Amino acid sequence: MGRTIAVCSGSGGVGRTTLSVALALGAARAGKRAILLDACGPSRACDLLLGLQNALALDLTDVALGEADMEHALLPAPQQKGLFLCCASLTERPRLREMTGAVLALRALCDALVIDLPAGEPALDAGLLGEGDARLVLARPDDASLRAAEQMLRQAQGERAECYAVLTRCSREQVKHGRQYAPETAEAALDAAALAVIPEDGAMAADVGKSKRRIWTPGGAASAAIEKLTRALLP
Ligand SMILES: Nc1ncnc2c1ncn2[C@@H]1O[C@H](COP(=O)(O)OP(=O)(O)O)[C@@H](O)[C@H]1O
Ligand SMILES: [Mg+2]
Repeated sequence: MGRTIAVCSGSGGVGRTTLSVALALGAARAGKRAILLDACGPSRACDLLLGLQNALALDLTDVALGEADMEHALLPAPQQKGLFLCCASLTERPRLREMTGAVLALRALCDALVIDLPAGEPALDAGLLGEGDARLVLARPDDASLRAAEQMLRQAQGERAECYAVLTRCSREQVKHGRQYAPETAEAALDAAALAVIPEDGAMAADVGKSKRRIWTPGGAASAAIEKLTRALLP
């Protein structure tokens, strides 16, 4: 049975999709069978990063309704052997509570199931996470993002899964200009140590739709921090 890692945040634009894709890719690179579940519905972007947008026809909702076989909702990623993409719903915000069985079936098929959840959606009552699973709550170190993350960390208290704060898009330059807090200050505000501090890194910004290169080139500071996080979560 695989480990599920739910990637969530209170606010948008914090790098959930980027981190979700990178975690799943890293797991597959390390020889694990990895499934990336995009649960963002019409605002999904994992397919764009992997260049699979034209290949998607069936989703996990079809599987949950008995209208498709699981194998038809799973697409192999062209970049990496062992990585598969599945979308919870192609047409609407997925009703995760109604597809718990299908998500657990996905988890049984892999070593690592990474779920990219929509902003503000912890899916706490969807039964997606259990003992041994992990929830990542992402926050950029600014007031709005930290406040939303603090709320989400509080809501997740008492859950059986491990729950970690992750600081993303951290920039010393922004701290200097008073637009972001230093990571230590953000950790104090969240009352939680961050499992990872991912720097703002131009090399990480994906080039979606404008050229053939859709995924960031590895080697930058952000991708190094994400690789370390991947090893910690999926040893
Ligand atoms: N560490 C980073 N450094 C710089 N840009 C980043 C980083 N992580 C994500 N981005 C960029 O920020 C934007 C939002 O990221 P995305 O992963 O789509 O966030 P979310 O899914 O939380 O909305 C994208 O343009 C992405 O390329
Ligand atoms: Mg996203």
